[in-house]
Amino acid sequence: MAVRTIAVLGAGQMGSGIAQVAAVSGYDVILRDIEDRFVSGGLSKIETRLQRSVEKKSLSAEEAKAARARIHGTLQLSEAAEADLVIEAVPEDPALKKSVFRELDPLARPETIFASNTSSISIAELAGTTKRPDRFVGLHFFNPVPVMKLVEVVRGPATSEATMRTALEVCATLGKTPVEVHDAPGFVSNRVLMPMINEAILALQEGVATKEAIDAVMKLGANHPMGPLELADFIGLDTCLSILEVLQKGFRSEKYAPAKLLREMVAQGRLGKKSGHGFYEYA
Ligand code: CAA
Repeated sequence: MAVRTIAVLGAGQMGSGIAQVAAVSGYDVILRDIEDRFVSGGLSKIETRLQRSVEKKSLSAEEAKAARARIHGTLQLSEAAEADLVIEAVPEDPALKKSVFRELDPLARPETIFASNTSSISIAELAGTTKRPDRFVGLHFFNPVPVMKLVEVVRGPATSEATMRTALEVCATLGKTPVEVHDAPGFVSNRVLMPMINEAILALQEGVATKEAIDAVMKLGANHPMGPLELADFIGLDTCLSILEVLQKGFRSEKYAPAKLLREMVAQGRLGKKSGHGFYEYA
């Protein structure tokens, strides 16, 4: 199927990043969120990043202007439903994601492909809320979306070959490297990444070392671009907690039980970079 218009549901850090990359790659983009301030916040982040790309000369001023003009912000789910491909990027809450797909399904044309940017939730479970499980796939992008090359393309048990083909083609036109994985809690990325982050939080909680020391060990000792605590702040501590809960429930294993400190920080609204406070403070 030829994809010309991509709708992105959720204008947060992932959604706005996906919308930007899609528009720069020539797609018409519908960026939908539930409140005006979220839509305008996402659009203004995109404008800032496009402007930075012009300053760095990775885009011409005309290309940046054309990319911005291809993005239409909206509050209406019915407008998003008109796209050829809808990529859901709302917060990592199974009930919320399911309710969005349940509402979207009857509004969209039968051939429209649905994708979820979920970082851990079962694609089968999400697809099961729609009448199109064969046209449903996981497209898991990484933050910052304009920089990170990977998209984990998650094949659900009912995802058709045609849907997989379209998903892989779209990723390639976005300049990304798609890697196909099967549907399992946390897929590959977060099954491996989140236990490391959780373990770093446990080490901090137990007083094994300071946050700076834990991050320095993994940056200098494992060549990671960010230490695990800095990365947790960057991803969002609420997102880390949700992913660990999905892993714990999905594998029925206490191995993934979220650290007490992580739960406390999320309860206090210390969500990382996006809230200005996490393991570190942000201006
Ligand atoms: N949006 C767009 N571009 C950005 C950006 C953003 N938010 N942040 C940084 N960049 C760009 C910069 O403009 C710069 O581009 P140029 O090289 O063209 O100038 C480049 O990235 C490097 O940036 P900086 O020099 O400012 O900083 P840095 O070298 O420290 O890199 C980083 C920043 C790319 C974020 C790097 O620290 C990094 O790779 N961190 C790890 C990121 C990571 O692991 N992401 C995955 C998280 S897991 C996830 O997303 C999935 C999940 O399910 C939880």
